[in-house]
Amino acid sequence: MVINAPSSHEAPAPLSDRLRRSGLVLLAAAVSLLSLVILGDVAPARALLVFLCIAVAALVPLQLSRAAATRDGETNLRSVEGAAVRSIVAGMPDPAVLLDRVGRVLHINPAAAQLAPALRRNELALFALRSPEIIAALREAIATSQSQRATFVDRGPVERWMELIVTPVAVPTEFGGADNCFLMTFHDQTPLRRVEEMRVDFVANASHELRTPLAALSGFIDTLQGPARDDAKARERFLGIMHAQASRMARLIDDLLSLSRVELSAHVRPSTQIDVVPLLRQVVDGLEPLAGERQVTIETDLPASPVIIAGDSEELLRLFENLVENGLKYGASGGRVIVSLTSAANAEGAPEVRFSVRDFGPGIAPEHLPRLTERFYRVDVGDSRAQGGTGLGLALVKHIANRHGGRLIIESVAGKGATFTACFPQPKAIVEG
Ligand SMILES: Nc1ncnc2c1ncn2[C@@H]1O[C@H](COP(=O)(O)OP(=O)(O)O)[C@@H](O)[C@H]1O
Ligand SMILES: [Mg+2]
Repeated sequence: MVINAPSSHEAPAPLSDRLRRSGLVLLAAAVSLLSLVILGDVAPARALLVFLCIAVAALVPLQLSRAAATRDGETNLRSVEGAAVRSIVAGMPDPAVLLDRVGRVLHINPAAAQLAPALRRNELALFALRSPEIIAALREAIATSQSQRATFVDRGPVERWMELIVTPVAVPTEFGGADNCFLMTFHDQTPLRRVEEMRVDFVANASHELRTPLAALSGFIDTLQGPARDDAKARERFLGIMHAQASRMARLIDDLLSLSRVELSAHVRPSTQIDVVPLLRQVVDGLEPLAGERQVTIETDLPASPVIIAGDSEELLRLFENLVENGLKYGASGGRVIVSLTSAANAEGAPEVRFSVRDFGPGIAPEHLPRLTERFYRVDVGDSRAQGGTGLGLALVKHIANRHGGRLIIESVAGKGATFTACFPQPKAIVEG
């Protein structure tokens, strides 16, 4: 990798060492010549001339290399401070490149070498970089000595949205003072972008879902005020539809509020100890009328003794209700739904409580399974709406399970029904007790 390759030309000894060595040479020359003058072997004028020649020979190359070092910024990496700067750049977790005042690469860390493999030490970064946004930002920073930002898409194996910041930095030199350099850092903005996209999608979906019943409501209001003003029969029918649409809006708002409440407390694990058996009985009893309507039998397999988990009873009720209701609505053709509660061990051997709902309906095709818990995702939007669905039920179920430290497993074989299982960790004390 570029970053680890040995430098093409080994750096000479630091300037300070060479200065010290030249001083010693001059001192030795002065002592020797003085001895020769005292011993009478050499005339004082000749000794002085020889000394001057030695001094010129020792100091001129030093002056030249000092000027060159200052000119091209190499000093930064040879001085003690330069080494510290290099270590800092190397240790930065984000891709980082240190450039001299004209944009030549002084140092590049491993993350940056991976992001821009064409960058080479001692070469101009502008020649190695291809993204027009980076080039423009770098040019501007060099021209104005002002910090610049740019965003660009890194089209590597996985597309990433990156932000580049070029900041002027003063790197101390060994002669005192500082060299103007530039620090280029890259930041991966992909997760933020994804969240932002999800937020935009969510607002668009929620508005669309609300607008549809709202449009129906205002349409019927217009009709009732206009053409159907004196038609008692039509009024009766329209009011029924309006009532259904208003209920749909209320359900949607209800689900949205529940979802945001669960999200708000996502990081606070509920601690109240709850026996889930009576909660489940309550849910099954409450859904018996729906089961009767859909001609589905609910079979329960619940333990006789209490099953305790740490939880929030309101949220658990919603979770059970959503899963059983889905089984009754979407799996109605199977004629039966089995609701069970069992204790088992998870992959790590920790005890957990498993609540599952199995139906024998049409099931769900495998391509839909990973997306079912996304907000507003439905296999068949028309069917869900006809059933009074909002598309938020499983998103809510997943959030509630997560908040309880649990997980949701969805299994289905198309044509043979579906099983939804919510697993919750069982408090240790309860298991032992
Ligand atoms: N038991 C099931 N059998 C078949 N499809 C199901 C089942 N449960 C859920 N689905 C599908 O998943 C979608 C999302 O469910 P959900 O989030 O509860 O939303 P909603 O019920 O409001 O439509 C449903 O619209 C349906 O297409
Ligand atoms: Mg549902």
